Parts: sequence; structure tokens; C-alpha cells
Amino acid sequence: MLEPIAPINWEKDQVVIIDQTCLPEKEVYIYPQKVEEVWDAIKKLKVRGAPAIGIAAAFGLYLAVKDSRAGDKKGFLAELNKASDYLASSRPTAVNLFWALDRVKRAVEAADTDNVADLINLVHKEALAIRDEDEAMCRAIGKNGASLLRDVDSVLTHCNAGTLATSRFGTALSPIYELKKQGKLLKVFVDETRPLLQGARLTAWELHQAGIPLTLITDNMAAAVMARGWVQAVIVGADRITANGDVANKIGTYGVAILAKEHNIPFYVAAPASTFDLSLESGEQIPIEERNPEEVSHFGLRRTAPEGIDIFNPAFDVTPSRYVTAIITEKGVIRPPYKQNIAKMF
Ligand code: MRU
Repeated sequence: MLEPIAPINWEKDQVVIIDQTCLPEKEVYIYPQKVEEVWDAIKKLKVRGAPAIGIAAAFGLYLAVKDSRAGDKKGFLAELNKASDYLASSRPTAVNLFWALDRVKRAVEAADTDNVADLINLVHKEALAIRDEDEAMCRAIGKNGASLLRDVDSVLTHCNAGTLATSRFGTALSPIYELKKQGKLLKVFVDETRPLLQGARLTAWELHQAGIPLTLITDNMAAAVMARGWVQAVIVGADRITANGDVANKIGTYGVAILAKEHNIPFYVAAPASTFDLSLESGEQIPIEERNPEEVSHFGLRRTAPEGIDIFNPAFDVTPSRYVTAIITEKGVIRPPYKQNIAKMF
């Protein structure tokens, strides 16, 4: 198996991002030099997936302050907060973005120095730590998830919660990579994931590269695949999980969860601790991003819907926890009752 690429990284003293809007046709790398370019990359989904967005935001903060001329810590923190608010305005749903920004700010606040050069280094160090820890979390999720999927031959996934959505290995796809390492090849049904086709463009691309057998389907084929008994589990990622176990993930996930329940198929969510938002009690409180209506009215560059009609384009939906069989985290597998067990785990 090829060592998976790192979709967001720090290499040769700069940020490097694989531009996911160009996949699978071309592997294009971009090298943002300014915080505005990182904001733009997040907004336009050049870098996407909850953990990857968090890592990108942390590097974005570093780019914003690396040439700071602040005279003291107070001035430096003011610059850092301004850049953080700006990056936080890029996308609202994935809590990993806010988690990463807060983590960097907290590290600076806690630092016992007024030396701005030291504080700049600290921001960089924290961003690198977020990247490295994410990789370790993804590997641990892979191991924990593999134990749940050992007796399964075929799974269905929605959107992309793989290597491309994280530092490496992914969340929902990590158990599949881990099982391959252990000598078991799972087959994956990949929802194309309308409207932006993260399944068809990204999940299919990375699974194919990794030598995992896959079948691409359109979103409206999932029920037919389940009715035929072709999948024994569903596994997806998450953008935000609330204290009661409700899960925000790519639009269409909720429908897949309902279908899985009807067909008695376990519905697993794989996510690191940084995706949990315990400040929210339940899913209705999660801010849901609405995107440009053209993503729905057009197929690629071609308009497929009439002009002058109403269009609704939420990027995410919320799956109530009653549909979730288990949540696979780096610390272990959480099962219902979620309110108690999530609180116990974190
Ligand atoms: O809009 P996207 O492509 O950023 O949405 C991504 C998802 O919904 C993923 O499933 C989620 O972020 C989990 S990534 C490990």
C-alpha cells in the first residue's frame, strides 16, 4: 500500500496543501504565504474535512503572526485574536476549526514570557503538534474501528472522511486501511455525495490509490444496495458531535443513517476528541453552513436547473444519536447511552 499523502502539511518551511478541488484529475499543490490564502483554501474546499480544516487554521494563525511587530504579549495576543476571528469566519460547522484556533491561543496565553519571538515560535510549535497528534489520533481510530469491522465484508461510506480529510489515514476510512494492513480487504460502497462529489472525486480516488476495492454509487442508490444485503455496516466521519451524541456530517448522512436502521445495519461514526463539542447539548444547536445555490443548480459548469427557482443548499445535516450504533474515537468506542458515556470518555 502506498504511504498516504499528507493533504495539509508543513514542509520546507512553508504550508503545503493539496488542492482538493482539482482531484482526481490533477494533483495540484498550493503554498499559501498569507493567512488570507489559508482562509480562501478553507472556504473554497481546497482543504476540507473537519480535522484537516483545524490543522490548516492553526498554520493560518502562524502565517498571520509570524512577522508580528507587536511590542509585548498583550499586543501579540490582540493580533492573534484578530487572525483567529478571521479564520473562524471561513466555515461554521466543523468544530475542529474552532478547537484548533482556541488551542493555539490558549498555549500563547499560558506562556510565561513577554518575548514576541518566543511567542511566534510557540504558535508554530502548537500548529505542528496539532498536525502530529491528529495523525496519531487517526491511527488509534483505525485500530479501534478495525475491531468492530473484523467480521464485515463490505461497508458503505458517505462523503470523504479519509486521508484527505485529516493529516493522514482519515477517521472513517482509517479502520479500512488498518484492516488491510492486517491482511483483511474490506469492500467499500462509496456514495458520490452530491452536490460537490467528495465521495466520487476524493474517497474513490484515495481508496483506489490504496488498492481497496470499491464500488461508486449515486446517493439515491444506497437503499437499493442495502436491500440487496451488500453492506454489513455504514461508517462515516463527523464535523461536530454534541454532548448527547447527535452528529453533524455531510448532507445526506442523516438519510443514510435512517436507511441503515431500517435494514438493521450498524451505523458507525468515527471521530477524534477534537470533533466533540460538549458545550452544545444537542444537534439543533449546531450551526449548519449553507453554500452557494449554484452548487445545486449546476452540474460542474453547466446549469441543469431552470433560472429563478428557490434552492436550498445546506452542506451538513444532523443525525440524531438514536440512529448511531457506536462512535469510534481514539480513546475507545462509545455506545449508548451517549450522554453518560461521552461525558465519561472525555
Ligand atoms: O464539506 P466537507 O467536504 O468539508 O465535509 C466533510 C465531511 O462532512 C466529513 O465527513 C467530515 O468532515 C469528517 S472528516 C474526517
